[in-house]
Amino acid sequence: MPATVVVGLQFGDEGKGKIIDFLADAADVVARFNGGANAGHTIQVGQDLYAFHLLPSGVLRKRTMNLVGNGVVIDPEQLLKEIEETRARGHPVKNLLISDRAHVVMPYHRILDGLEEKLKGNLGAGTTLRGIGPAFEDKVGRFGIRMCDLIDPEVLRAKLQKIVPIKQRLIEAYGGTERLDPDALFAQEEAYGKQLAPFVTDTSAWLDAALRKRKRVLFEGAQGTHLCIDHGIYPFGTSSDCVAGAAAVGAGIGPQYLTEVVGVAKAFTSRVGAGPFPTELEGAVAEHLRERGGGEYGTTTRRPRRVGWLDLVMLRMAARVNGLTGIAVTKLDVLAGLDRVRIGVGYRTNGAAFKEFPASMRVLSQCRPVYRELKGWPDLPEEEWVRIAAKGKRALPEPARKYVAFIESQLKVPIRILSMGRSRAATIGR
Ligand code: IMP
Ligand code: MG
Repeated sequence: MPATVVVGLQFGDEGKGKIIDFLADAADVVARFNGGANAGHTIQVGQDLYAFHLLPSGVLRKRTMNLVGNGVVIDPEQLLKEIEETRARGHPVKNLLISDRAHVVMPYHRILDGLEEKLKGNLGAGTTLRGIGPAFEDKVGRFGIRMCDLIDPEVLRAKLQKIVPIKQRLIEAYGGTERLDPDALFAQEEAYGKQLAPFVTDTSAWLDAALRKRKRVLFEGAQGTHLCIDHGIYPFGTSSDCVAGAAAVGAGIGPQYLTEVVGVAKAFTSRVGAGPFPTELEGAVAEHLRERGGGEYGTTTRRPRRVGWLDLVMLRMAARVNGLTGIAVTKLDVLAGLDRVRIGVGYRTNGAAFKEFPASMRVLSQCRPVYRELKGWPDLPEEEWVRIAAKGKRALPEPARKYVAFIESQLKVPIRILSMGRSRAATIGR
């Protein structure tokens, strides 16, 4: 464990929240390093379901410290709402630290997100409309407001005085009719800053000290490799880096600390939002996957997820760019009740065969998957999956075991964790 990064290998929604929660048992610290409130990490504790967007997934465990690193963009309104809701459910949320270098998502970012999406037309990613893109644009464009500014009223006022008129002009240029009120905005954000100030600190220095003391740290990635701004399906992904290397940058530590990288892959593929999706399914099998358990709807936006077969071209690339040391496969219980299941093992276009994931959207949209067909496994009630989990991998239905073994042999990375349900008990792993 010492410092383990958990990343998504597909388009997000791989079940990272559940895997982080499972691994958090052995962790002293859980740190977020990328994304923002576009993330939706679902955790089940007993019969209770929690969906976190900004709070790290270790927040329900009293002895685990939770960090929101500098690489995350923070919507103060959303974060405060989450803290309040979690407190109302009996968790004190005293185990939280927020980076003073993290950038703030402002209301104008949410407005601009909507306007940009409209103007982009078929180049729009179908964003979560949480202001993520515009907040990262401001970070890189150096128009950003950071947490250290949010909690410093003088600086906050001075920055907003400069920035708000520029954003107003941008909104108008984009055809928007929203009016920004600088005074009201300042008053609101200043109040948020006051409430969040007790959590804000130099998380990089804090984490470095913790790692020197050999604390066990779990880096909680948001989204997935194929939504990554650098390695994902561009421009149909998100605006931050979602791969393991980003954990060092986004949490403010040296890369030498990162000892393990666990990639989470769903047993099939799903995505919310627009963009090419070679193994996408329509019709009965798609409905089957989407409806089972009611889980295949975006945690953040409730949009129906697009679903398809597992895609090993995507996963091979993800294994490489993340430097995986282990894999967690989730939702084996959802990909159940089918006679036959398929796995994409390569792509073909009119002329060429592809082993590597193409960069060009034009090429990718012409790619047709080459499938390997395997036997399916029966649909089992949750209690049965829990019983199987207690016995270990050998107790899995044989076709499911073969399915997992096939993935492992293709990716050449050990599969360390299998998940067959939302509960902590429906998990096989160390
Ligand atoms: P944004 O991150 O809100 O700008 O959205 C960009 C793209 O990433 C859209 O296609 C979203 O549906 C997708 N996306 C962003 N965050 C997540 C996530 O946590 N899970 C799944 N999809 C996401
Ligand atoms: Mg999610």
